[in-house]
Amino acid sequence: MKVKVAPSILAGDFARMGETVKKLEECGADYVHCDVMDGNFVPTITFGNQMIEHIRPYTTLPLDCHLMVLRPETRLEGFARAGANIVTVHYEECREQTVQMLRIIKNYGMKASAVINPNTPVECLFDAAEEADMLLLMSVHPGWGGQKFIPESLGKIEKLRQFLIRNGRPELDIEVDGGITPDNVNDVISAGANVIVAGSAVFRSPDMKATISRLRGE
Ligand code: DX5
Ligand code: ZN
Repeated sequence: MKVKVAPSILAGDFARMGETVKKLEECGADYVHCDVMDGNFVPTITFGNQMIEHIRPYTTLPLDCHLMVLRPETRLEGFARAGANIVTVHYEECREQTVQMLRIIKNYGMKASAVINPNTPVECLFDAAEEADMLLLMSVHPGWGGQKFIPESLGKIEKLRQFLIRNGRPELDIEVDGGITPDNVNDVISAGANVIVAGSAVFRSPDMKATISRLRGE
């Protein structure tokens, strides 16, 4: 499967986010991962749909919006209007409404994805697999960049990819998010993930283009 790299702008320069996303596209990124945090679902506050609206003109890349927010259903229209391309909602917030939430996201014309935290069993995503355009596994606890990759995530990636292969969705994108570097990315890809989120590894690198290429497993 094609490996895609989604640098997280959480690690970017919030004072110059337009130029930041423009640079990500120039450096070969596939998506722009936008970590939306409301200060309630996670303690940190980052930005909302207005940031998406403001960076939209600076890049043609898909804006991959990870909603770490309470009641995501109240945010979807705003992100659609702002130009978001992918919206990911947390199973922990949606639970038995997860599949319905994915349908609503798609009705707004966006690709729909569901995510689970490190402590949530991977089986919680199985029902969403049929409706989803992507599934996201957190490999750190959400709320901050710069954390260490949780190694148990590799088993969850394998289990999810095996489930998708056995249930008619072998090519569904699995995105992994948190603590990924050029040193551990090949384990993540070998386990079955094909969309790589990285914030610190990209923005702390002296050569973003080379790092993005290495994160693609090249
Ligand atoms: C954490 C975010 C991640 C994080 C990744 O809540 O969802 O996307 O920004 O940053 P690094 O790559 O620095 O762990
Ligand atoms: Zn994220």
